[in-house]
Amino acid sequence: MAHLLTLNDLSLNEIDAILDRAEAFQKKEDGAAIQPRSTMVANLFFEPSTRTRFSFETAEKRLGFQVLNFSSQTSSTQKGETLYDTVRTLEAIGVKAAVIRHKQDGYYRELMDRVGVSILNAGDGSGDHPTQALLDLLTIRQEFILFQGLTIAIIGDLRHSRVARSDAKLFSRFGCRVILSGPPEWKNDGLQGEYAPVDEAVRAADVIIMLRIQHERHAHSMMMTKEEYHSRYGLTDERAKQMKPGSIIMHPGPINRGVELADDLVESGRSRYFKQIKNGVAIRMACLEWALETKGRTETHERVAQKL
Ligand code: CP
Repeated sequence: MAHLLTLNDLSLNEIDAILDRAEAFQKKEDGAAIQPRSTMVANLFFEPSTRTRFSFETAEKRLGFQVLNFSSQTSSTQKGETLYDTVRTLEAIGVKAAVIRHKQDGYYRELMDRVGVSILNAGDGSGDHPTQALLDLLTIRQEFILFQGLTIAIIGDLRHSRVARSDAKLFSRFGCRVILSGPPEWKNDGLQGEYAPVDEAVRAADVIIMLRIQHERHAHSMMMTKEEYHSRYGLTDERAKQMKPGSIIMHPGPINRGVELADDLVESGRSRYFKQIKNGVAIRMACLEWALETKGRTETHERVAQKL
C-alpha cells in the first residue's frame, strides 16, 4: 500500500508505468466486467469537484471496489471531528484507500505516517493535484509521443493553482520547456519554468494550458473585469490564430467560458479538454491500483503504534 500525495516521490519510470497501465485500461472495452472486490474505497471531498470526484468514483467502480462517498456537510466534521479522526474512523470500518480533496495545503502531512489507509490526494489547497498532472501528461503523450523538445505554456492564475504547480514540475522532469504567463500579481516564483508575455507564450507553445481564476483562494477581489482579463490574459479567438500548426489547447476545468478561454475554442479542433476528462478515469484507475498494490511504502497505524 502507498500514498499518492505529490508526484515528487515517484520516479519517471514509475510515472511511465502508470501512464502505460492507464492506456491498457483504455484498450479494454469501456465498462468491461471486472470481478467485484471486497476492498472499500472512500471519497472525501471537502471542496467542490465535478471531474476529479466523478472520475475517481467511476474508476473505483470499474475496478470493482466498494465505494463510500463521504459528505462533509452531513458528517461529524460538522461537530468538530478532525480529518485524522475521520480517516481513522473509516479505517476502523474497513476502508483501504481514501481519496481526499481539502482546501488546506499539505493536509495529508497529519495523516501520512499515522493511518493505515492509502491516501490519494485529489487536490490540496494551492499545493498539488497529482492525478490531474498525470492525466495531462497522458493527454500530451497521446498527442506528441515524445516529451523532449516540447514547449508547454501554462497561462493564468499561477499563484493559486495546484494544477500549475504539479504540471510545471512534472513536465520539466520529462524534459519539456515550460513557459509561464499571466497577470504579474499572480506570478509564482515557486514554479518551474520561464516567464513570458501571453502573446509570446501562445506563439511558442506546442501545448497551451489555460487556468481558471481561483477566486476562492484570493484574499482580495480581482481588480479588473472578466472582459478585461479575457482581452489581456485569456486565449481569445485572435490570439489563438497565432498558435503553431499542430499545437493544442488544454484546460484542467472547470472552464469559465469567455474569461480564460474564448467560448468557441473550448470545443474547437485544437481543444483536448474533453479528452483530458476522459483520460482522467483511466489515470485514476491506474493510480488506485498502484496505491493499493504497491508494497511496503506506508507504515500502518498499527506498526507506528507498536513503535511508540
Ligand atoms: N480539474 C479539476 O480538479 O476539476 P474538478 O474541480 O471539477 O474536480
